[in-house]
Amino acid sequence: MKRVVVLISGRGSNLEAIVRTAREEGWAARVEAVVSNRPDAAGLAWARSQGIETAVLDHRRYAERAAFDAALAALVDRWAPDAVALAGFMRILGPAFVARHDGRLLNIHPSLLPAFPGLHTHRRALEAGCKLAGATVHFVTTALDHGPIVGQAVVPVLPDDDEAALAARVLAREHVLYPRALRWLLDGELRVVQGVVRHRGGASQLWL
Ligand code: GRF
Repeated sequence: MKRVVVLISGRGSNLEAIVRTAREEGWAARVEAVVSNRPDAAGLAWARSQGIETAVLDHRRYAERAAFDAALAALVDRWAPDAVALAGFMRILGPAFVARHDGRLLNIHPSLLPAFPGLHTHRRALEAGCKLAGATVHFVTTALDHGPIVGQAVVPVLPDDDEAALAARVLAREHVLYPRALRWLLDGELRVVQGVVRHRGGASQLWL
């Protein structure tokens, strides 16, 4: 069994999608642990209800980012993960953590990167008059919401959309995209050539 650690800060709906899909599809992998930087993250309770081990590392208790990073690295090492999935994890990881998990560290971001890294992606897409929106799963680098793109899911922006409506449409696609991208990584299906991720079997990395 390959081992996955999921890092969250909040709701945890992507975590849920990953755990459910892994079970339904009978992956040769499972989520061993869920780690949150926020003690009140709703996803922690859900993980516990599923019998998944959880841990909290409150970033507010660390004066410096490097110290938080080192503590997080030591904590995550406990489970010797084959993949680390950031799922709504609202901290930027430092170079030591990123280097330690090079090639096995994924993030999901609710925009079509490289457009709209950072916060309030749906509001910014609406304000820019975008006709398409979506989500991206990418390998993590030290730059915020940046790194080789594993897959993207695309949705239309409809004329009457507000932020909540667009966010919900994108989120539903995230729940399909993230488990698929993670499974590819765990199955060794991904290679990165000059910063571009290809699926070995030539599967489409675009969800329309
Ligand atoms: C998702 O929109 C994800 O793309 C972003 O943060 C949100 C997390 O939602 N990084 P959830 O905690 O997985 O429900």
